Amino acid sequence: MEDQAEGLRELMRKRNVSTESVIKPKEPKRTRIITVTSGKGGVGKTNISINMAIAYARMGKKVVVMDADLGLANVNVMLNIVPKWNLYHVMRKQKTMKEILLETKYGISLVAGVTGISQIANLSDDERQNFIVELDSLTNADIIIIDTSAGVSNNVLDFIAAADDAIIITTPEPTSITDAYSMAKIIASQFEDLNIGLKLVVNQVKSATEARQVAERMTHIVGQFLNIEMEYLGFIYNDMRVAQAVLDQKPFIITDHHGKASICIQHLVDRMEKTELRQKNGFGALFKRLFSRKL
Ligand SMILES: Nc1ncnc2c1ncn2[C@@H]1O[C@H](COP(=O)(O)OP(=O)(O)OP(=O)(O)O)[C@@H](O)[C@H]1O
Ligand SMILES: [Mg+2]
Repeated sequence: MEDQAEGLRELMRKRNVSTESVIKPKEPKRTRIITVTSGKGGVGKTNISINMAIAYARMGKKVVVMDADLGLANVNVMLNIVPKWNLYHVMRKQKTMKEILLETKYGISLVAGVTGISQIANLSDDERQNFIVELDSLTNADIIIIDTSAGVSNNVLDFIAAADDAIIITTPEPTSITDAYSMAKIIASQFEDLNIGLKLVVNQVKSATEARQVAERMTHIVGQFLNIEMEYLGFIYNDMRVAQAVLDQKPFIITDHHGKASICIQHLVDRMEKTELRQKNGFGALFKRLFSRKL
């Protein structure tokens, strides 16, 4: 192999062509899959998924948002898009992931979620396998953000298993905190080797101090009782303009770029970029993880 490379270099030298671009080994591109989840519903998963995706896209990353709420899609509603095809058609092998991928005007691509039919039952082994194969076709993206439905279901656990990072969202509300803890507990019990970067975001806070207090309590009890590590990724202020942007069906990072919530989103992405991407992925590993859950 080396001989061949040297031979090629020699040929290029003779022809006076730069060898740099020709035989420099290409860094394998690595897609980061981030699953956004929560115990309690309505805590901000979809808003955070979309706005983080746009923040990533602004950094020049190729980003796909997947609406994995298999029952009540809301990413397309929030972006005011009416998709013809969605994840349901992929799961049912009627379409490929690439065929249903939608470009949006916000510089991110969308895999639309399922609307109009009641919650899809748990994925069968065949559908799961198909999902993995299809997910692999998106690996020319830098970032895939998977927005899930609230609470624990087999499907949500599948989307977590597929991820490099799982972000759990909570608000400072006690019910939201206890549900987030339950979520972490189930995640901890489901994976023998939790090789997923578990992260916490506290949404709708009045102050950074309030967020830190929630996060400290949570990361402490998770470490103590579940013996897993949960990293505090950051917080988002309670900001009226978030709710307004939802009503306007536009991402708040677009309508209010310099607003409090938008700046927080930018911090989350910066922080995310500083956290290490675990060495594990690849198609085979993903396959193994999705089929080795303890259920
Ligand atoms: N930082 C915030 N400041 C103010 N309001 C917010 C904030 N984040 C979310 N909200 C409000 O909460 C609502 C729910 O947000 P979102 O739909 O993103 O939650 P979700 O977790 O995806 O909900 P579901 O579990 O139903 O999918 C929004 O419509 C918005 O009005
Ligand atoms: Mg949602």
